Amino acid sequence: MDFLNYRSGKLYALDYPVEALAEQYGTPLYIYNEDYIKNRWIKYDQALNNRKHLICYAIKANSNLAILHSLAKLGAGFDIVSQGELERVLHAGADPKKIVFSGVAKSVTEIERALNVGIKCFNVESEAELYRIQAIAKQLNKIAPISLRINPDVDAKTHPYISTGLRENKFGISYQLAYDVYRAAAELSHISIEGIDCHIGSQLTELSPFLDSADRIIALFEQLKLDGIHIKHIDFGGGLGVCYKNEQPLEIVDLVNAISEKLVNYPEVEILFEPGRSIVANAGLLVTKVEYTKHQDDNHFAIVDAGMNDLIRPALYNAWMNIIPVNKHESNETPYSYNIVGPICESSDVLGKNRQLAIKQDDLLAICGAGAYGFSMASNYNSHPRPAEVMINSLEHRLIRKRETFQSLWDGETI
Ligand code: LLP
Repeated sequence: MDFLNYRSGKLYALDYPVEALAEQYGTPLYIYNEDYIKNRWIKYDQALNNRKHLICYAIKANSNLAILHSLAKLGAGFDIVSQGELERVLHAGADPKKIVFSGVAKSVTEIERALNVGIKCFNVESEAELYRIQAIAKQLNKIAPISLRINPDVDAKTHPYISTGLRENKFGISYQLAYDVYRAAAELSHISIEGIDCHIGSQLTELSPFLDSADRIIALFEQLKLDGIHIKHIDFGGGLGVCYKNEQPLEIVDLVNAISEKLVNYPEVEILFEPGRSIVANAGLLVTKVEYTKHQDDNHFAIVDAGMNDLIRPALYNAWMNIIPVNKHESNETPYSYNIVGPICESSDVLGKNRQLAIKQDDLLAICGAGAYGFSMASNYNSHPRPAEVMINSLEHRLIRKRETFQSLWDGETI
């Protein structure tokens, strides 16, 4: 994370001392760099500027309105997976014509709403969904734009929980059935076939699964073309990994070029991507305060005020996230190999294991790479209000979500 640096032992995010931000906004605190987020989206966009394309930010990675607004102003498209995400992104100023709707369980109300606002495309994940969309579109007297999300059955070589393109995964329509489902879709009165869609998994650090999947999708595209079914866009999904520790992910431009080269003979086809993590992960940090240190037997714990409720990735996927001190002590603190644990009553509430740190009570720590699937997966487990979120850029820092109040914890409940 290039925008983090130490000056006289103190951590700065851009030109802001992280300690001062924590003092002003409290902890736990998410901090995001707006300039970084925009630049990452622009990298995708520019890599494709010689042909028709749309970069649809997958808002599940981080759906704060300020981030969505910032990207919408750049002309971004968005990939959504629920009506909640649809309403959120519209509220942030997105153009409905640039929204694609993924997700395996689209309800009647969700489909109606998406048809009424006029989204770009439904990424259809099953035959049953196709027929539901046809029925609703007919009722509303609208034509529904669709892609089929194809499960290309390739191994994304990532954590099994975030791999989605294997035959046994619940996502998409199997490659073997795809052709027949397209044929069936072509017969439906209120369906317009617009594209082919795929997404094989997340945190991919190798190129080959992307290329294997692209080959299969393009073969299907060619087969459909021969059959008179003209596909206007191909959506290659998201999935590009980032560096949390020592992974060496592809550069955005290399991924995009490798895929778009495969379509040089089809310049009329619009290319879509749905990146999430690679836009926001390394834009964000979670700042947390050490409440206590505890040394017993051979164990050294730093018990901090953020937990799996705020950032579930380490607990859920065993994800390694870098944890760094906000003030490097000159110091007389003894360094220990700490387990950084949260306040939650679960043994899995661990943010990092065996981290060599010289820290004491009330120190601040920053968890890096926390911009993606951090706040968006946060919960109120153990009745902890969710953290505040702050945006920084070269000009200012500002609160983009206030810390939840205790009252908000029981909003909507009755005795
Ligand atoms: N498109 C679809 C249909 C998706 O399901 C996803 C992510 C994306 C795009 C964006 O993928 P990305 O570019 O962010 O890899 N919570 C997990 C990651 C789950 C990803 C779910 N789908 C984690 O924290 O690692």
